[in-house]
Amino acid sequence: MQIKFTDFKSEFKFFKKDISNSLNKVGIAGEYVFGKELNKFESNLRKFFKVKYVLGVGNWTEGMVMLCKALDLKKDDEVITVSNSFIATCGAIAYQGSKPVMIDVDDTLNIDIELIRKKITKKTKAIMPVHLSGIPTNLDKIKKICKENKLWFIEDAAHAFGGKYKNKLLGTVGDVGIFSLHPRKNFHVLGDGGIIITNNKKIFQKLKLLRNHGLKNRDEASVWGTNSRLDNLQASFGNFFLKKINKINLRYLKIANYYTKNLKNIVTTPKYEQKICKPTFHQYIIRTKHRDSLKKYLYKNGIETAIHYPIPIHKQKAYLDMYGKLKLKNTELFSKQILSLPIHNYISQKQQDYIIRKIKSFFVTKSL
Ligand SMILES: Cc1ncc(COP(=O)(O)O)c(C=O)c1O
Repeated sequence: MQIKFTDFKSEFKFFKKDISNSLNKVGIAGEYVFGKELNKFESNLRKFFKVKYVLGVGNWTEGMVMLCKALDLKKDDEVITVSNSFIATCGAIAYQGSKPVMIDVDDTLNIDIELIRKKITKKTKAIMPVHLSGIPTNLDKIKKICKENKLWFIEDAAHAFGGKYKNKLLGTVGDVGIFSLHPRKNFHVLGDGGIIITNNKKIFQKLKLLRNHGLKNRDEASVWGTNSRLDNLQASFGNFFLKKINKINLRYLKIANYYTKNLKNIVTTPKYEQKICKPTFHQYIIRTKHRDSLKKYLYKNGIETAIHYPIPIHKQKAYLDMYGKLKLKNTELFSKQILSLPIHNYISQKQQDYIIRKIKSFFVTKSL
């Protein structure tokens, strides 16, 4: 049996009718950049998240670069975040000229909250936890630290569309939430895309200018900006996807719970506070000291897996050249143990049973 880590082809078949409807709608209206579909998408998302402001942007990374500018972060101002994330989490901060300050993670693969206070300096301006694989940490504690130290609370919610913390949708707990709509995400469009959500009017107004060249109308620019608009066509895809996301997220949850039930005695399965968190399980990440041999074994048996992420950001040349060496014990250890199993809307029960069977048979050989 062959099981792909992602299955865009099945998804395309599943959504074919909706996709061609979107194309027709946008083509007939003749609106490719800005227009009804983007307005509708932003309005639908305001209702979905129950927030005042939503902005469709080119992707998460550009959204974060613009947010650093909107928050007026200067050179060497610091944003506290983690290293076990996609490069963009820190890359966007550094690219904009500020400094990503990475701290270690705890056993849940999330930011170790106990270490945050020690890292706050006069230059610290924001804290940005990453809801890795759509699992949040204790966001109340982070909120409290931000409040006490007058710091912005940004949520890297790239993996977390529709996930919840204490009945609040992820992205709405902090001052600003940023989502990636890249095709690999549980909620996505058919290319690059991103959204920023906030209840802060000033931040929203600045971002709105920045995403469109600083233009306050067609011809007058009040600040320097960039071009980071979410295309009308992508917004139209987003509109039909939004109708399905709750159902899709439930499916992710079901697959994740089934993995956990069957694998919890042989590998470390995802850890989180079950009573207060509803994860998206954008990834399903297990941990084992036999990671590399398990990955090879599964591949030989037709099962594609992935590692999120094999090289922590503080070990990347880009970081080392600029800031030098940093030691993050758990992050480094976990990067050698983590393995993401296939999880998406198109995996069948038979396929998931096969994956579980193969993992079990691998560990039987280990215990012999
Ligand atoms: C945690 C995290 N943050 C940020 C990003 C960047 O998103 P984008 O590709 O939309 O710029 C990603 C993308 O994979 C991500 O996984």
